[in-house]
Amino acid sequence: MKVVVDGVELDLPAGTSAIDAVFQSGGDVPYFCAHKYLSPVGACRMCLIESGSPRKNPDGTFVMEGEGDAATPKIFWFPKPMASCTMQATEGMHIRSAKTSEVVAKAQAGMMEFTLLNHPLDCPTCDKGGACELQDRAFEYGYGASRFGFDRRHADKHYPLSKYVILDQERCIHCKRCVRYFEEVPGQEVLDFIERGGHTFIDTEEGGLPTGFQGNITDICPVGALLDNVARFRGRNWEYDHTPTTCTLCPVGCSITVDARNGRLERIVAGENRDVNEAWICDAGRFGHSFASHDRLTVPLIRGADGQLHAADWDAAITAINRGLAGQNMDDLALYIGADSTLEEGLALESLAELTGTKHVDHWPRYEVNITAPAATLTDVATADLVVVIGADLGEEAPVLELRILEMLRGGLLPAEFDHGTAIADLRLIERPVRKPEKLVVIGQESGLWKHAGTRIPANGLSGLTRLATPDTDDLRAALKALEDAKAPVIILGADALNGASGSFASTVASLASRTGAKVMAIPAGPNSRGLAALNLVPRRGGLGYAQLAQAPAAFISRLDPGVKARGFTVVHDTHLTSTAQLADVVLPALTNYEKRGTTVNLEGRLLGLEQAALSSGEAADLIRTLSALAEALGVKAKVRGLRGAQTLAAAKFGLKLESVPPRGVIHPLPTATTAPTGQVHTPTLWTERMQVPRGDSARAEHINSLIGMELPMTAVQPGGDD
Ligand code: SF4
Ligand code: SF4
Ligand code: FES
Repeated sequence: MKVVVDGVELDLPAGTSAIDAVFQSGGDVPYFCAHKYLSPVGACRMCLIESGSPRKNPDGTFVMEGEGDAATPKIFWFPKPMASCTMQATEGMHIRSAKTSEVVAKAQAGMMEFTLLNHPLDCPTCDKGGACELQDRAFEYGYGASRFGFDRRHADKHYPLSKYVILDQERCIHCKRCVRYFEEVPGQEVLDFIERGGHTFIDTEEGGLPTGFQGNITDICPVGALLDNVARFRGRNWEYDHTPTTCTLCPVGCSITVDARNGRLERIVAGENRDVNEAWICDAGRFGHSFASHDRLTVPLIRGADGQLHAADWDAAITAINRGLAGQNMDDLALYIGADSTLEEGLALESLAELTGTKHVDHWPRYEVNITAPAATLTDVATADLVVVIGADLGEEAPVLELRILEMLRGGLLPAEFDHGTAIADLRLIERPVRKPEKLVVIGQESGLWKHAGTRIPANGLSGLTRLATPDTDDLRAALKALEDAKAPVIILGADALNGASGSFASTVASLASRTGAKVMAIPAGPNSRGLAALNLVPRRGGLGYAQLAQAPAAFISRLDPGVKARGFTVVHDTHLTSTAQLADVVLPALTNYEKRGTTVNLEGRLLGLEQAALSSGEAADLIRTLSALAEALGVKAKVRGLRGAQTLAAAKFGLKLESVPPRGVIHPLPTATTAPTGQVHTPTLWTERMQVPRGDSARAEHINSLIGMELPMTAVQPGGDD
């Protein structure tokens, strides 16, 4: 399809919106209400363009203008500028943006003046300052002065929609993004416009916003009307160091940006990753970060003769470990790490285990089963024609996977991609989309997904799969038939199905998948369990697993808190003084995953990169450096002593190029996962205790609480910086 934008002819796919045509031409259109992953509604009237199309004669030929060879189809222009987000570009259409049309430039300046008519100009105190679309666009497209001298409308300020989201009603420009988000994405009609005309305001139904995915409206509000209450008043946008990285609280691996100021983690916002989280993250990923800058361990601790832990430096800690392990066989030392450790850290651990010859190696959480059926990606889930979820509570295991399933229920229309990125206005997306619950079967216990499913079958998670493969009720027979009839089905297996599952479970999955053509997504137990399982980080024959830690002769435990120590000398590497760290002989300070470079593998098998945010963590070290210090204490030389060494090992072992994982990640098949009995049931819990921030423990927090009339879920300000 040929379209002419500002005099330049472009070749565009059919269905392209006029706004995307302009962006594809390299031009610009200001917009507030359009959003890449929401339906275009034409609410703000800012995206004006002039447009015209050729017209045909009754005989099918074009109405021409000009003479002879110079004759071209005559363009019939609309008499006034039109909103480009709701207009489809058509064959032969001509478009003029503000770049070439004075009419458009003037109309947009007038529209900006109208939008600002009642908007309070409190930019100097608004938290969105420096990241406000209205402010930027007013500067680029506005008149620079207002002709309205009267007082502006006043409405409620600092109005809590929930404990996490604050609304400033008078800043709202009625773009309807937040309303459409709740209706279209999590499928909850909880927010709407109330009253009419100049009295219109946004509010929720009684009870406020539902937790789960509410924080996303703070990202998409184009002004400072909806603000993240955890990050509010913590810094201005230009003061933050922005670090794009990956969330490792669950195995989805959403793209996020970590905003740090003065060494503290103050805010997390969603990053766009079309293949993983599109533009959304869950509330735990957004609001559960305060632990990263709260009560951190910043120096090693050594247990003294008085039985207490005392601050020390790394040299003293290495000496203490060396002394504590003197006379102990190297292969007595158990090595256990958390399943959110990176691949590089896992490789370092594996190489140290090889060096010491220990059989006691493990990572936690993990399952005992290795599913070999064809793996589904998140895009497969969103575009499936049937999804069967067995034994999963996605709210605890993989929240954004739930959003991708809801996307499937509303038609799986993934926005088109252009050179300028995801389509800004995909006209196939519609408001109040029709959902098709018959495409979702849920087998297991009741969970958040339950209400969206057309077929709900209460069952024990572990037997749910076997019962589906050999159905014993009408519901299960119908579900199996739907699975057999579907063209692109996906089976999702959660913790209730995978805990205690064995080889026979894996072969049932494989045969059901090959019989029905289904792809399978087995949700890993931990954020990087899938990557670590490929590294042989499980107990060797005769070795003690993580569940037998208390029997280990000595142990090194990284970022796990079982609440018990080994029989003998115990070294704990953690970010906080956990209950296990309090029992340890030596405690080594660890980095959080917000402060590391490395790679994780998400529930699709996608390699995703972590970047290091600018947080103060004192002398804390990642696992690679800590293991090389441990090796020094053991009197051996670690093979992997840095990120580069681990990457070289990954290249040699698996052909992985970890140093060049693209920003959207890349699916890379890893070798068969190694498994071993766990001796322990894994219960996924997303919001761990440390993510629940201590409240009201400082005069400042109390002062802010009194100002806004509610309790803030924010931590006391730590000393330092320029507060
Ligand atoms: S609160 Fe923000 S996102 Fe919602 S309608 Fe108002 S300006 Fe738009
Ligand atoms: S869904 Fe998982 S990876 Fe994504 S933001 Fe939430 S916790 Fe983080
Ligand atoms: S009318 Fe708001 S972006 Fe088009």
